[in-house]
Amino acid sequence: MTLRRAHLFTAFVLLVFLAAHIANHLAAVTGPASHIAVMEALRGVYRHWLVEPVLLLAFAVQVVLGLRLLVRARHSVSGLVGWVQLLSGGYIAFFLLIHVGAVFTGRIMLGLDTNFWFAAAGYQAGALILWFVPYYFLAVMALFAHLACAAFWLSGGTGSRSRAWFVSLSAAGIAVSGTITAALMGAFEPFEIPPAYLETYSAFL
Ligand code: HEM
Repeated sequence: MTLRRAHLFTAFVLLVFLAAHIANHLAAVTGPASHIAVMEALRGVYRHWLVEPVLLLAFAVQVVLGLRLLVRARHSVSGLVGWVQLLSGGYIAFFLLIHVGAVFTGRIMLGLDTNFWFAAAGYQAGALILWFVPYYFLAVMALFAHLACAAFWLSGGTGSRSRAWFVSLSAAGIAVSGTITAALMGAFEPFEIPPAYLETYSAFL
């Protein structure tokens, strides 16, 4: 199997988790309780002792394969779609290393339930909001942009159908990411973060 095909194959497996993960964050539009309820239901699957190690291994494999493709393509990349693909892929790899590391640090070392409050606390961590807004916003946007590039190539890589895939998925990324950011910041339903989640950021408050 070529590197590109292996990357594509793993992506289809990961997409199942990612679709659920993004839908989970969208549930925050109706408030923290809905987000927490959806996450608890989903955890029954992705945190299962047989599923979680496979999921995390698949993400690690995907990042390694993606970075190898990125290194290989870096001198020959051209055109808008090519550049969006390279930059969004690079950002996803960067984000995943920090994100999964942070989730497991919160869960194992800080003993926190890494739920809605864990995600939303960053937005109320003083000056760190300047990090968290672009950090999460770009992550969801990069994911959709990367999928938009894949859809562009898989639908022929030329013509109006391919362009329509690219534009509509990229635009959906901006809309979904903006909605999740607003929900986590309490724009739809105001909330107070439990103190235990803000303690980790006390140096910035
Ligand atoms: C606004 C954007 C995002 C937020 C707020 C967010 C938040 C979270 C939270 C709170 C968890 C812990 C879940 C739990 O304890 O059950 C988590 C886990 C995870 N997230 Fe995200 N996430 C976001 C986007 C993403 C994206 C774009 C990716 C992938 C490209 C991703 C990949 C993962 C992975 C692999 C895990 C670990 C799952 C596990 O516990 O086994 N996340 N995320």
